Amino acid sequence: MKVLITGGAGFIGSHTADLLLRRGYEVRVIDSLEPPVHRHRDKPGYLSDEVEFIMGNIGDRDAMEKALQGVDAVLHLAAYQDYLTDFSKFAVVNDAGTALLYELIVNRKLPVRKVILGSSQAVYGEGKYQCSEHGTVYPPPRPLAQLERGEWEVRCPSCGRNMKPLLIDEAKVNPHNQYAVSKYSQELYALTLGRRFDIPTVVLRYSITQGPRQSFYNAYSGILRIFTICLLNDMPPIIYEDGRQLRDYVHVGDVAEANVVALENDAADFEVFNVGSGQATTVLEYAARLNALLGKDIKPRIPGEFRLGDSRHAVSDISKLRGLGWRPKLSLEDIINEYLHWAQDRVVASGLHTEAHRVMKQLGVVRSRR
Ligand SMILES: NC(=O)c1ccc[n+]([C@@H]2O[C@H](COP(=O)([O-])OP(=O)(O)OC[C@H]3O[C@@H](n4cnc5c(N)ncnc54)[C@H](O)[C@@H]3O)[C@@H](O)[C@H]2O)c1
Repeated sequence: MKVLITGGAGFIGSHTADLLLRRGYEVRVIDSLEPPVHRHRDKPGYLSDEVEFIMGNIGDRDAMEKALQGVDAVLHLAAYQDYLTDFSKFAVVNDAGTALLYELIVNRKLPVRKVILGSSQAVYGEGKYQCSEHGTVYPPPRPLAQLERGEWEVRCPSCGRNMKPLLIDEAKVNPHNQYAVSKYSQELYALTLGRRFDIPTVVLRYSITQGPRQSFYNAYSGILRIFTICLLNDMPPIIYEDGRQLRDYVHVGDVAEANVVALENDAADFEVFNVGSGQATTVLEYAARLNALLGKDIKPRIPGEFRLGDSRHAVSDISKLRGLGWRPKLSLEDIINEYLHWAQDRVVASGLHTEAHRVMKQLGVVRSRR
């Protein structure tokens, strides 16, 4: 069985390629080696020689037609991910790219038996809460004026009380930023066209995924990369809001296994699943654990800044995918240890991180409380 992985030279795609090869699949990758993820646009050394590699863009009809020839299943991971304000690029790469994938499968009558879409926890926006007065609430984004006052917790839109965050199940989405809108729109294309044209399709909403091979140059690749770079350069990491935000962090190997479960299990067809750790960790706890594992004691800086479009708490309920026999196997400690081991010889100057922070401030993405 041959699987095409779009964006397969990236982080999640390459780990999934390794797993598929170990399980006896043939793997083809199409990837345009986008900077800054691939800084010099070279095929990454970690990509197995057994992978058939096509350098190409998912928006290029000819390249995609070539990539889809003789393929039984597609894992669609190529995507534009950033915090920047080039809104149209999210729609072009993520949404038009997904529409083109289905267009080619349908119009060329390609015998693709399954499409798995890598979506994101970001589609939940501000998530799911419990208000002591109004029950379950899916709140809108926190108002700018509230954030500018440094009042970070999510309030009930009806009574203004602070609310308790709940685990987020798959039932309801509420995308709040350009990336999340584009990921949800991808989901709609994939599930609608999949059902309509009988192409079994599965949507997986990954939580923050971590592990070796996360690009050092990608501003989107987050906390582990940024904090590691800072601490190894003896600089305090900057924490947005107050650091008490809850997140769940899942190991890339667990995500690769979820992709394979979705691929191999007919019961997954036309369903949406969260893929996370199910464990809540605050950003402050994360910084403390990383410090401890590095043998450092560098206090983070908490200047009262916030990133527009960020959600306060985001921890996914993973019981639905557990129902198919999948479960996360690696802890946050495992994730950090493995990453540090990998990153040791690769850590780059802290200037990269401060530059990304400067650009986000310039664009008004990162703002300060007043
Ligand atoms: N990493 C996470 O924490 C996370 C969380 C939620 C969802 N996701 C989703 O998972 C998928 C994979 O993420 P990742 O972390 O592996 O990202 P990544 O940036 O490491 O990999 C993405 C790959 O896609 C390629 N690519 C981008 N645009 C392309 C285009 N137009 N044509 C061809 N290739 C293109 C890039 O060169 C890169 O190799 C994405 O769809 C992302 O939205 C990731």
